[in-house]
Amino acid sequence: MKNKQKAALEYELISTEDGSSSLRDLQTGETFHSTHGALTESQLVFIQNGLEYLIEKESIRTINLLEIGFGSGLNALLSLSVAKIRSIQINYTAIEAFPLRSEQVEKLNFVDQHLLEPFKSEFRDFHSSEELEKSFCEGLFHLKKMKVDLLAFEPAKSHFNLIFFDAFSANVQPELWTKEVFQKLFHSLKSSGVLVTYSAKGIVKTALRDSGFIVERLTGPPGKRHVIRALKSNFSEA
Ligand SMILES: C[S@@+](CC[C@H](N)C(=O)[O-])C[C@H]1O[C@@H](n2cnc3c(N)ncnc32)[C@H](O)[C@@H]1O
Repeated sequence: MKNKQKAALEYELISTEDGSSSLRDLQTGETFHSTHGALTESQLVFIQNGLEYLIEKESIRTINLLEIGFGSGLNALLSLSVAKIRSIQINYTAIEAFPLRSEQVEKLNFVDQHLLEPFKSEFRDFHSSEELEKSFCEGLFHLKKMKVDLLAFEPAKSHFNLIFFDAFSANVQPELWTKEVFQKLFHSLKSSGVLVTYSAKGIVKTALRDSGFIVERLTGPPGKRHVIRALKSNFSEA
């Protein structure tokens, strides 16, 4: 485990095709985001397909959100900007087994982008310690970042409205994309809850369906044909 943790901290900074940066794990070759565009991918897969979808569909003003794999904090930063722009409350719980150090994220250029530029100090705060509980934007965005392995994580039942499932791919971490893991997450969602993820691999869809989710295949960002939105129940028919 010691070796695994040490190795997991070896990353290189990369530039993706939309100009936003990302990180590559030197041991596995896995990148934190799509090389076709980190920001473009996060914006579509997690914000548009998950957060914006839920806000429109459910008209809710308070969202309990769980992220699996906090990583660089890009999804959290984009969610914070949505909370601020739409004036909604987001309680953002994120788990991360190998938190990045501040010097590993300082060259990421997310806060140079127009939309995220106002949130430079918030982004710095996100990475100020391995674990964190802090409110931002006059309390509209509450972040609880926990250093915990997904396999050991015991989420509260029927608590979350939305899950961002952003683990490394099933090619390198198949143990995270299983029926058992998705069942645990299924039970942590409220009845109208939604899980979004970037992977539409057959084994991922099967594991999601076997754990009770209704799986929707959506058009992916550049370089990816499909991505997934999984619903706990078909509330649109309710
Ligand atoms: C695809 S990257 C995350 C991307 C991240 N959401 C972002 O925007 O930068 C996957 C993340 O999952 C973390 N991770 C790997 N194994 C994990 C585990 N067993 N439990 C929780 N997090 C894990 C990695 O350290 C990495 O930060």
